[in-house]
Amino acid sequence: MPLEFSVQSKQRVERLLSRYPTKQAALLPVLHVAQEEFGHLPDDVIELVSRTLDLAPAHVYGVVTFYTMFHREKMGRNELMVCTNISCMLKGGYGILKHIEGRLGIKAGETTPDGAFSIVEEECLAACAGAPMMICGDNYFLDLTPDKVDVVLDELRKRFREDQKSAPLNRTMFGMGPGGEKA
Ligand code: FES
Repeated sequence: MPLEFSVQSKQRVERLLSRYPTKQAALLPVLHVAQEEFGHLPDDVIELVSRTLDLAPAHVYGVVTFYTMFHREKMGRNELMVCTNISCMLKGGYGILKHIEGRLGIKAGETTPDGAFSIVEEECLAACAGAPMMICGDNYFLDLTPDKVDVVLDELRKRFREDQKSAPLNRTMFGMGPGGEKA
């Protein structure tokens, strides 16, 4: 049976479609809905989005693989998007990235075995005034130092463990409900 969106996601997609002049124009936000529901965008999810928007799967695949915010593979609950572009690089971005890699025991592009963290090395994230910086979820962490990174990682790790303990069965490893809302 082909993959389907949950009822909540279908409603979100319908709301999105009502705001755009064509189905194709809604592709990016619909991909966000899909990624929130399924955690990543493997072939069957790409096929679902293609079907929903009457687009060729190759078109959807091309968009998914163009943007670093979309993932073909499963990601950790906390996706650390670490900028190493010019401003961040000049202010120690590579040192920050190396520090995070050392703390988590993984390299950029990898996920910790417990699914708590993924690291993604990013190009400019448009917060150069706060370099070096990273994004995790909706949060921007600016003017990073190794000490600040440690505080952030400790807090995220603590929350991940608490969430695992409080509702291990009804959360996905991405910490989202079926409609993408925070569980
Ligand atoms: S170079 Fe890092 S945010 Fe712009």
